[in-house]
Amino acid sequence: MNICVIGTGYVGLVTGVCLAKAGHKVNCYDIDQGKINLLCKGVVPFYEPGLKELVMETLSSGTIEFTSDLLLAIEDCPLVIVAVGTPCRENGEADISQVIAAVKDLACLLNSYKVIIIKSTVPVGTCTYIENVIRQNMKNCCKIDVVSNPEFLREGSAIRDMLYADRIVIGSDSQEAIKVIKEAYIPFGRLIFETSRESAELIKYASNAFLATKISFINEMASFCEKVGADIKDVAKGMGFDPRIGFQFLKSGIGFGGSCFPKDLKGLIKAGEKIGYDFKIIKEALNVNEIQKIIPIQKLRNILGDLDGKTVALWGLSFKPDTDDIREAPSLDIIAALLNKGAAVKVFDPIAQDKVKDIFPQVISGQNCYDTVSGSHAVILVTEWEEFKNVDFMKVKSLMAKPVIIDGRNLLDAQELKEMGFVYLGIGRK
Ligand SMILES: NC(=O)c1ccc[n+]([C@@H]2O[C@H](COP(=O)([O-])OP(=O)(O)OC[C@H]3O[C@@H](n4cnc5c(N)ncnc54)[C@H](O)[C@@H]3O)[C@@H](O)[C@H]2O)c1
Repeated sequence: MNICVIGTGYVGLVTGVCLAKAGHKVNCYDIDQGKINLLCKGVVPFYEPGLKELVMETLSSGTIEFTSDLLLAIEDCPLVIVAVGTPCRENGEADISQVIAAVKDLACLLNSYKVIIIKSTVPVGTCTYIENVIRQNMKNCCKIDVVSNPEFLREGSAIRDMLYADRIVIGSDSQEAIKVIKEAYIPFGRLIFETSRESAELIKYASNAFLATKISFINEMASFCEKVGADIKDVAKGMGFDPRIGFQFLKSGIGFGGSCFPKDLKGLIKAGEKIGYDFKIIKEALNVNEIQKIIPIQKLRNILGDLDGKTVALWGLSFKPDTDDIREAPSLDIIAALLNKGAAVKVFDPIAQDKVKDIFPQVISGQNCYDTVSGSHAVILVTEWEEFKNVDFMKVKSLMAKPVIIDGRNLLDAQELKEMGFVYLGIGRK
C-alpha cells in the first residue's frame, strides 16, 4: 500500500520506517525542511536504537521517501497518518495546533477518498473536530474517514514496540476505513481492537495515566519504606508475584519524565476541568512525581549539609535509557535545584549531554563517568543506562572528593558499595 506519514519525529519516523520495512511504499512528509534534508541523506536527527539502520535500509530499497512537498507525499496514498507533536500549553491543556495546521494543509490538497489516521495523542473529541476542519477546508469535495489510532510505542524500544505491538487500537465506525487500516497493519499481525473514536482517544490517555500512577504509587511506598525500615525492592518484588499486580512499572526512583506522561496527565486533568470533572488520583500522581524529582537534593543536604561550593556529578540525563530525549527529564529539575543552591554540576550521559548543555551552559560535561566524578563531593545516578552497572567503583572512589552515591534508580549493588566505603543512598532502600 502507498502510505503517507505526516511528521517525522519519534513516532512518525518509526511508523514510517516500520511500514516501509513491512513492504509498503511510504512517503514521509515534515514541515521542517532541515529535518527532511537530513533524512534524505540517511541522517536521523535524534537517537533511537536501530532507527538509523532501518532508515538507511528502506532508503536504499526505495520503499521510503522523505519530502517537504505534501502534494507529492499524498499522491496515490489511500492512507495518511498524522503523527505531529501535541505538546502541552502553559496551563496544561493539550496543544493540538500542529495537528490542526497539518490537516488544514492536507484538506486543500485532497481529491480522492482517503483514510486519515490521527496517531498523535489528542483529547477526546478531537477526531470529530478534525473531520469538520478538513471538510471546511477542502477545495474538492471527496469522501474522507478520520480514524483515531493512538500510538503506544516507548522511546528506546520504539521499533520493537511498533513491529510487535501488544495491541493496535482503531477508533472508527467506518468499515471501509477499518479495512484499509487492517490491510496496512497486516504485517504487524497483533491484536486489533476496534472501538469508537472517543474511546480510542481516551484509551491512550487512560493507559498513560494508569502507568504513571503505578510509578507514583510505588514511589510513595518507597518513601514510607525509608521511614519504617522496609526495602522497596523486596516490597515491589513481593507484590509483583501477584498476577493482578505484575512486576512492570513497580521500580521506585526519582520519578517519571519524558514527552508523554507529564503532558498527557496534565492534558487529561485539564480536559476534566473543562467539563467540571476532577481527576483526583491523576493530580496526586503528578504531585508525588514532583516531590520525587528533588528527593536526591534532600538526601544530599542530609549528608553534605550546605551545597554551596560543593561539586555534584550526574550520571545520566535523558528521561530514560536508550534515548536522547530530555523532555521533562528529572535531570533538568535536579540540575536547576543544584545550581540554585550554589553547587557546581558535572554531567555525563552517553548521548544526551549536548542537549542539556544547551539549556544549562554552566554545567561541565564529562567525557565518561570517571572524569565526571573527579573532584566531586557526590554523584547522583539519574538515568539507569546499562553501562553504569559496569563501572569500576574503586576507581570512582579514588577520584571523588567524598565517596557519596545517590542511586536515583536503585540500579547499583548497595551492599557492595557500602563495603567499598561509599555512603550509598537509594530510593526506599533499607
Ligand atoms: N514520543 C513518544 O514516545 C510517543 C509515544 C506515543 C505517542 N506519542 C505522541 O505522538 C505524537 C508525536 O510525538 P513525537 O514525540 O513523535 O513528536 P516530535 O515532536 O518528535 O515530532 C513531531 C514532528 O512533527 C513535525 N510537524 C509539526 N507540525 C507539522 C505540520 N504542520 N506538518 C508536518 N509536520 C509537522 C515536526 O517538525 C516534528 O518533526 C504526540 O502526540 C505524542 O504525544 C509520542
